[in-house]
Amino acid sequence: MEPKISSEEVRQAIDNLPMLSPNVSRLLQVMANEDYELDDVVNIVKYDASLTAKVLKMVNSPVFGLLNPVTSLDRAISYLGKWIVVSIILSDNTGDLFSQPLEGYEGQQDALWRHDLFAAFSSGEVARLAKQDFEAELAFTAGLLHDIGKFVFSPFWKQLAPEALGYIKEGNVSDYLQAERTLAGLDHAQVGYEMARHWDFPEPLQQAILYHHTPMQAPEEYRALAFAAHLGDMCAMMAGCDTGNDGMQYQLDAGYAEYFDVNSKTLAQILMEAEAQFQKAVSSLSFEEEVD
Ligand SMILES: [Fe+2]
Ligand SMILES: [Fe+2]
Repeated sequence: MEPKISSEEVRQAIDNLPMLSPNVSRLLQVMANEDYELDDVVNIVKYDASLTAKVLKMVNSPVFGLLNPVTSLDRAISYLGKWIVVSIILSDNTGDLFSQPLEGYEGQQDALWRHDLFAAFSSGEVARLAKQDFEAELAFTAGLLHDIGKFVFSPFWKQLAPEALGYIKEGNVSDYLQAERTLAGLDHAQVGYEMARHWDFPEPLQQAILYHHTPMQAPEEYRALAFAAHLGDMCAMMAGCDTGNDGMQYQLDAGYAEYFDVNSKTLAQILMEAEAQFQKAVSSLSFEEEVD
């Protein structure tokens, strides 16, 4: 079948995305490094007024319930940990990208953001059950960013989505990703990968985004991370945080068992823990909006 979307136009849309500020890119690079030190993060944030303001605002939001305001960046950063990435990715340089409705996926406003956040917390919990040495922070970020491709892909996909549903119902393809590939010639994971390259994300994150639906195909060194994102994605679906249509026919890749101690019992714990963190996050983020 001839693809019904011009890959050239999609590429154009990616090229036209604003760049992340150099400090945000550096921060992502640093935090992707297995043994990054708190000081490395502090040293990037402290010379950037806008980043400093965001971090302090986040730590002092009522959701953290701190008795005394935190004014020192060191303390704020050690307290927030991975939250720094969330607040910065959310509010920095990406413009309106994250708040537009996902028409191609029938997702409502914020649906993808909620999905990503739930997946992030779940991926972080999955990472704790790693059978090998594994870094939880990176899993959190991979879960957070796994579906970024949808933001760019959605407007192109919009016209094809009804056809995709018919395709799946008729059993022509096994899952939504395959419907995307068949009809459009490319899928949201590939688009996300190109965006991750555009934004110069660290290599492990690029790979986790590309393979979050097909983790077994990821290069060996990135496979565990791709599985963490894959499982986090599934948890978000299970918790009802889906992004519309594409929850249909979700194909779980059972290869995760080699990397994570996930079973029915631990899965229930992951979901419970992720839900608690998610609720806390949602109230924190709506506070952020009110202040702005
Ligand atoms: Fe996805
Ligand atoms: Fe997803």
